[in-house]
Amino acid sequence: MNNNIPKHIAFIMDGNRRWAKERGLSPSEGHAAGAEALMRMVEACAKRGIEIVTVYALSTENLEKRSKTELAGIFGLLVKELVAKRGMLKENGVSLSFLGKLKHLPHKVQEVCDEAVSELKDMSRVKCNIMLNYGGRDEIVTAMQEIMQSGVDMKQINEEMISKHLYTKGMPDPDLIVRTGGQLRLSNFLIWQMSYSELAFTDTLWPDMNEAVLDELLADYAARSRRFGGGDVTAATAVVK
Ligand code: FPP
Repeated sequence: MNNNIPKHIAFIMDGNRRWAKERGLSPSEGHAAGAEALMRMVEACAKRGIEIVTVYALSTENLEKRSKTELAGIFGLLVKELVAKRGMLKENGVSLSFLGKLKHLPHKVQEVCDEAVSELKDMSRVKCNIMLNYGGRDEIVTAMQEIMQSGVDMKQINEEMISKHLYTKGMPDPDLIVRTGGQLRLSNFLIWQMSYSELAFTDTLWPDMNEAVLDELLADYAARSRRFGGGDVTAATAVVK
């Protein structure tokens, strides 16, 4: 196993519906398999020493554009999973945060999310951020509104101040962002935080994600040279693509 493990990994969990369609199942069954994959991958990441796992569970666009039936299925699943898996998450040392415009979510969802967060707040093996009704542009607009409302002098606005007003405040930016499902785009995910993130894409559909695919992605990440805009690269670690 390599020793260059990301501290913070983020996943765009794409491909649930295609996975379901391939098997003649409903989209909701695809999302249910996606939720199982999420539990599996959080544990796999924790086992490898990754400290923060951030997942894109529902975008602001998903909330606007997906059918009411599909959204009800995702919310029902979230509530069911949070109730059923809370004990397991606790045993595995997982703390949870739900980040996004949560106030637009059904009341029951907000309530169960709050309960799970408070029950798991002292867990410190791995932190899992579940982005719900999240959009990167919307996050930046909200941050700017908060900053302007605080009456700060325009000249004092800087990158650090903006970072402190994002949902991810206090966390390191993701080292690695993985999108499953074969599409090569970021879909408005963590667009501020990803400035220097490494990006990885796999054709594996999210419900099929497993430790072997994760290890391949991590080995590829470990072989990359992160320069953060500087030019000091050692030949041993540089990868030419
Ligand atoms: C993207 O696949 C997936 C989503 C929009 C929903 C993600 C939700 C989960 C993984 C379940 C979350 C559950 C918990 C407990 C947080 P897609 O539907 O866009 O798939 P497609 O690209 O094949 O259409």
